[in-house]
Amino acid sequence: MQTQLLIGGEWRAGSDGESITVLDPATGESIADVAAGSPADATAAVEAAAAAQPGWAATAPRVRAEVLRNCFQILIDHTDELADLITGENGKPRADSVGEVAYAAEFFRWNAEETVRIHGSLSTSPSGDKRMLVHHPPMGVVVMVTPWNFPAAMITRKLAPALGAGNGIVIKPPRETPLTALRIGELLAEAGVPAGLVNLVPAASSGAWFDAAVDHRATRMVSFTGSTEVGRVLLRRCADRVLKTVMELGGNAPFVVFADADLDAAVEGAMVAKMRHSAETCTAANRFFVEQPVVADFTERFAAAMSGVRVGNGFEDGVTCGPMINEAAIDTIDGLVKEAVGAGASAALGGSRVDGPGFFYEPTVLGGVTPDSPITRHEIFGPVAPVIPFSDTDAMIDQANDTEMGLIGYVYTGDLARGLAVSERIQAGMIGLNRGAVSDPAAPFGGMKQSGLGREGASEGIYEFCETQFIGTNW
Ligand code: SIN
Repeated sequence: MQTQLLIGGEWRAGSDGESITVLDPATGESIADVAAGSPADATAAVEAAAAAQPGWAATAPRVRAEVLRNCFQILIDHTDELADLITGENGKPRADSVGEVAYAAEFFRWNAEETVRIHGSLSTSPSGDKRMLVHHPPMGVVVMVTPWNFPAAMITRKLAPALGAGNGIVIKPPRETPLTALRIGELLAEAGVPAGLVNLVPAASSGAWFDAAVDHRATRMVSFTGSTEVGRVLLRRCADRVLKTVMELGGNAPFVVFADADLDAAVEGAMVAKMRHSAETCTAANRFFVEQPVVADFTERFAAAMSGVRVGNGFEDGVTCGPMINEAAIDTIDGLVKEAVGAGASAALGGSRVDGPGFFYEPTVLGGVTPDSPITRHEIFGPVAPVIPFSDTDAMIDQANDTEMGLIGYVYTGDLARGLAVSERIQAGMIGLNRGAVSDPAAPFGGMKQSGLGREGASEGIYEFCETQFIGTNW
């Protein structure tokens, strides 16, 4: 498979000859070297996208939709190969990688259907003096910066609607997981995506690359998924050129268990909300608020379920939690656990890194965490579950909302009316009510507060990649 940059429909080395070494997080060993793009390569990619975009935008929506449908099919047809790449460079269990390929492909199928439904409007002005025609042309060139936790799906979630709307695209895949991205680039060409429309330029370091991409006059939009910290920096850069942005940033999800909840269902949901994709998701439950009468029972059952997690190489049968992405991630997780224990929490399970090669951490349940414990302030991004007892619902909701993040929350209760009322009071863009996972290409994914700007997926997702133009006229 290709390990070079894809610019203007051609695979080429980086202009300054640099490369990125991709590691297998299960062993810490190198698995590939990939060309690294320079700022000059970023500029060339924007130019290629700008040259290809007008022709693509001029095609009939049905033509674009059919190309997107082909992209769906080709990803599905290459599930095994893509899943191997994902597990190889990200580490997640092979079954999760297979699930990710299906999820990634579905963004193409959903957006193929949306591409023929980008609607405008026609109305008469209130005074009756003119007709008002509103339509939605593409943005032009969109720069995408994507994360390593879903090496395929976080690309297609942006790419599919952007293509459907008629844009040209430059993607900087993450340096940790570029292989899946490059293979997807090859497959899209086979599926009929015109040369030059999608450009893939991994980079060894992001700053100068990003400056070159956003400073180009043709770039009109940036779509980013990653941490809030990095998102803030990119937003400042985008402000210089008043670029449209979509930002999918960090989370600090509360997971609320009321005493009337079905505890078996709550534990099952907690496992999904915490451990899906090796706990490296921005939707991961980060703070478990459990009502006092069931806190001991829930914690015991949750710790028992977590002790059944098999940590290991994602290619091994039966493994349900792979390695973390790198050593720095392990250091961060371990630091948060040690700090929480220092502040009075106790480990009902786990609490340490796993010795040996690779970047593994024990599934961990922390009991007796107080709402102001330092761990409640950070996105853990690892298999650690702090349990915080509560007895007053209003106070718990205040604590759940006492964060700058607002991506997602989870509520478990046997009383649907209470569940809906509490869901509405949680300041988050998405809620799982008696569910541990809600992500879906047909649903609007995104956060409130500092968890992001804009939405991905659903019908909203394709309009994010469109301008709005109003034509006032008479006839
Ligand atoms: C993410 O963690 O970045 C995305 C998770 C999802 O799509 O469910």
